[in-house]
Amino acid sequence: MLLQVLAFIIVSYVASLVIYRAFFHPLHKYPGPILAALTEGYEAYYNIVKQGGFLDEIERLHKVHGPVVRVGPNALHFKDRKAYHDIYTHGWKLIKEPVFHHNLMAHCRESSIAFTDPQDAKNRRSLIAPLFSRKAVISLEYTIQTKIDKLIALLKENHSSPSSSADLADAYQSLTVDIITSYCFAECIDALDVPDFSHPSVQGQHDIVKGLWLQRHFPFLTDSVKRVPEKLISRLSPQFRSYMETKIRFERQIDGFIGNPESLSIAEHETIYHHLLAPKSQDRPSRRSLVDEAFTLVGAGSDTTSKACTVGTFYFLKYESIRKRILQELYEVWPDTDRPISFVALEKLPYLTAFIKETLRFAPGIIHPLPRLTDNTTTTIGGWVVPPETCVAMSVLFMHMNSDIYTDPRTFDPDRWLAEDTSEMMEDLVPFSKGPRICLGLNLAWCELYLIFANIFRKLDLKLLVTEDTIEDYGRDHVDSFEPTWKKGYRVFVDKAKG
Ligand code: HEM
Repeated sequence: MLLQVLAFIIVSYVASLVIYRAFFHPLHKYPGPILAALTEGYEAYYNIVKQGGFLDEIERLHKVHGPVVRVGPNALHFKDRKAYHDIYTHGWKLIKEPVFHHNLMAHCRESSIAFTDPQDAKNRRSLIAPLFSRKAVISLEYTIQTKIDKLIALLKENHSSPSSSADLADAYQSLTVDIITSYCFAECIDALDVPDFSHPSVQGQHDIVKGLWLQRHFPFLTDSVKRVPEKLISRLSPQFRSYMETKIRFERQIDGFIGNPESLSIAEHETIYHHLLAPKSQDRPSRRSLVDEAFTLVGAGSDTTSKACTVGTFYFLKYESIRKRILQELYEVWPDTDRPISFVALEKLPYLTAFIKETLRFAPGIIHPLPRLTDNTTTTIGGWVVPPETCVAMSVLFMHMNSDIYTDPRTFDPDRWLAEDTSEMMEDLVPFSKGPRICLGLNLAWCELYLIFANIFRKLDLKLLVTEDTIEDYGRDHVDSFEPTWKKGYRVFVDKAKG
């Protein structure tokens, strides 16, 4: 009898939820598939079963239903440039959607990227932003150059024939992990010390990204794993081992600084801890939050930049015309490579700058829609009236591949950025997002991209080991993940070093 009552209650609840979501929910008039209106399982299906294919599905839905689609019971996705600017510019009115961010960032919830409360985000940003200012980046430029020199030496020494070719995505990932850990903590992970660019932290980063979908839809999995003793997890799952090792490393450094604040003064250079541990008041982050922040900075600051380098280098190697123009500029301003060239000097090169903008158009940091929640009032987004507390988003891909703004958007063409008036294109180039939650590390990212491309292109004659098939696959495969990925990757070898 009790079971029957229970079954009746559950069936009645589900039936009323279905009826409410389909006919009475404030979004019921917005177009979209009925299943998406009824359950979040629609998104989960595409993300998990179709391995990150939700973005493909969103693209299809826009073709069928137009510029606004109901993609979840309480979620709208837009394909309209004005809507993008409306959603991401107003960070106090449209906050990061808490459930999505809480779940996705389960491994680093108390950190700048995961805070959904605008005041928390603002407080944290004001603490660490000074380390990422343009001035700070220029003063720590040498930390980036040192790591690039190391990668170049490795490529020359160990990867100078087709049979000893290297996976460039892994090489760049090792480089950017070393740069970010050295830059932020003055304690490098030394991923570049491991031959073949297979350092556990590189693999660990891949594993975290791969696990994001499960984390997103089944957060209790991450929460349960967190309750299991760390030693046991390390034994049971090699994937978690590198995560645990990195965590222990961060904790050791943080405990050292907390226990002995004087030790900050003997760090090789300014680190995030000089800023995060400075406040004596309640604004000082907890130990857990310091560890979470370290994870965020390494994740946000390595994967994104290395993907952009992988994509940019690919087009540099693919198109001779692009290669020639970049090299011509570099040979002119940098005849003697025995002396390093500065970020400030490279920024002045028009074609290299155009090339980097085009690279960022193709390789924005995060292509999955980043959801925002409207406040408790009605909001207008791109001219559409959106009810209170609605989840709204627009993937950056729809901005960067918009043929109204970028002619022939799927063609990699740096020349578009050399046109007389690029203001509209610039306004829509949003690889770092925009508004109050814009990427905190964008000065560092620009500096890295200039230095990495200039040094690699000028000092090495790289050859691509790839078939035309793989080359053209980029356009199709890039939506299968949270970030733009190269399913098949590509390999390179150094034909000869240049003087
Ligand atoms: C090409 C390189 C990069 C790209 C394309 C990129 C892109 C982005 C994007 C799109 C966001 C917004 C995420 C969101 O709304 O949830 C973001 C946030 C962030 N990025 Fe980057 N990023 C890059 C490099 C870096 C670097 C080098 C750092 C170094 C520390 C960094 C640190 C951060 C942080 C801390 C946030 C969170 C900001 C907040 O939520 O308030 N990023 N980045």
